[in-house]
Amino acid sequence: MKLTTLLLLPPLLREAIAYTTLSATSLHALPLATDDEFNIHTGTLLAPILQPRVPDTPGSAAVLAHFVNFFTTHLPDWHLSFQNSTSTTPTSHGKEVPFVNLIATRDPPWLDGQGGEVARLALVAHYDSKLTPTGFIGATDSAAPCAMLLHVAQSLDSALTRKWAAMSAEDVGAGGYGGVEDHKGLQIILLDGEEAFQTWTHTDSLYGARALAEEWEGAVNPAMSTFRSPLDSIELFVLLDLLGSANPVVPSYFKTTHWAYQLLADVEQRLRALNGGYIEDDHIPFMARGVEILHFIPSPFPHVWHTMEDDGEHLDIATVRDWAVITAGFAAEWMDLEGFLGEGKAGGEGKGRRWGDEKTEL
Ligand SMILES: *[C@@H]1O[C@H](CO)[C@@H](O)[C@H](O)[C@H]1NC(C)=O
Repeated sequence: MKLTTLLLLPPLLREAIAYTTLSATSLHALPLATDDEFNIHTGTLLAPILQPRVPDTPGSAAVLAHFVNFFTTHLPDWHLSFQNSTSTTPTSHGKEVPFVNLIATRDPPWLDGQGGEVARLALVAHYDSKLTPTGFIGATDSAAPCAMLLHVAQSLDSALTRKWAAMSAEDVGAGGYGGVEDHKGLQIILLDGEEAFQTWTHTDSLYGARALAEEWEGAVNPAMSTFRSPLDSIELFVLLDLLGSANPVVPSYFKTTHWAYQLLADVEQRLRALNGGYIEDDHIPFMARGVEILHFIPSPFPHVWHTMEDDGEHLDIATVRDWAVITAGFAAEWMDLEGFLGEGKAGGEGKGRRWGDEKTEL
C-alpha cells in the first residue's frame, strides 16, 4: 500500500446498478461470522492466514492451501483456478519468483462453458505479506480481508444456488431468455505479490494483480460473446484492504437501501480529500484497463500499518465481523439475492448469530 498523488478515482456507476434492495429480513438473515471462524488462534477462516506469507515461501503455500481446502471442502460449486506468473524482484538476485493468484468463481449453471456471457462482481484482497519487517503478519494487510471474503462466499453460496434453481425452473436459463442482467457471477480473487519487496515502485509492487490484469485482458472470448475478455466480464472490482482495526472512519449504520453506496461515497470523499491523491493498490492494473473499482479501505490507514503490531492481537474482531457481513450484504444486493437468503442455510435457520442480533458500531 502506498499513498501517491496522481489521479482521482473515476465516477462510479451508481446508476448502472439495477437490483432489488435487500429487505430488513434478508439483511438480518446474513450470518455473522462466529468465533469459530474468526478467532485469531483457532478460527477456521482467519487463524490459518495469520502467519508470514511472503511469496514463494512455505507460509505462502500453506495459506494458499488453506483457501483451496476451504473452497473444495465447503463450497464445491465454486470453480477454482490459478493464475501464475514469475518475476524477478529487487531482493531475488536475478531469480524468477513465482506468484500465484487464486480465483474462485460461481457463475449461473446454465452458462457452463460460456464465460463470455457473464458479468461478475469481483471481490478482491491480497494474501501475500510484506518481506520486512521480518515476521510481519499483516493482519489487516490483508489476512482479515481474505478471511472476510471466504465468509462472504460461504454466506451467499446457498442463496445463489436457490436463486439459480428458481430461475432455471422458470426456464430463464440458456435458451429461455437473454437478459444480460440475469447472467451475474460472483468471483473471489485472492492476489499474490501486492507488497513491495524493497521500496514501492511501479515494478516492485502489485506483481500478482499486474499479471492477472494483463492475462485476462489478452484472454479473448469467442466472437459474438457479450464480453470480450474475462477482464471485461468484471462489472465491479471491489478491493478490500487494511481492514480490521477498530474505529475505521466509515458510517456505523446501514439502514437505507443504498447503504453500500453511502459507504462508497464516503470512501471516495476521503480519497479526494487526500490532496487529490489516490491510493496505489491492486486495483491499479485493472483500473488502467477501464475496470470499475470500489475500494474498501479506511482513511487514515490503521496505525499499525506496515509495523509488527499489525498482527492478530491488534485486530478488532468485532470490526472484522462487521466488515464481513457488510461486504456480504453488499454482494448479496448486487447479486440480487432478495428472497433467497436465510432459508435452509448451512447450520440451520435460527442457529448462529445474525446481523442485527447485536449492534456493533464500526
Ligand atoms: C500454479 O501454481 C499452483 C501453486 O503452486 C499450482 O498448484 C498450479 O498447478 C499452477 N498452475 C499452473 C497452470 O501452472
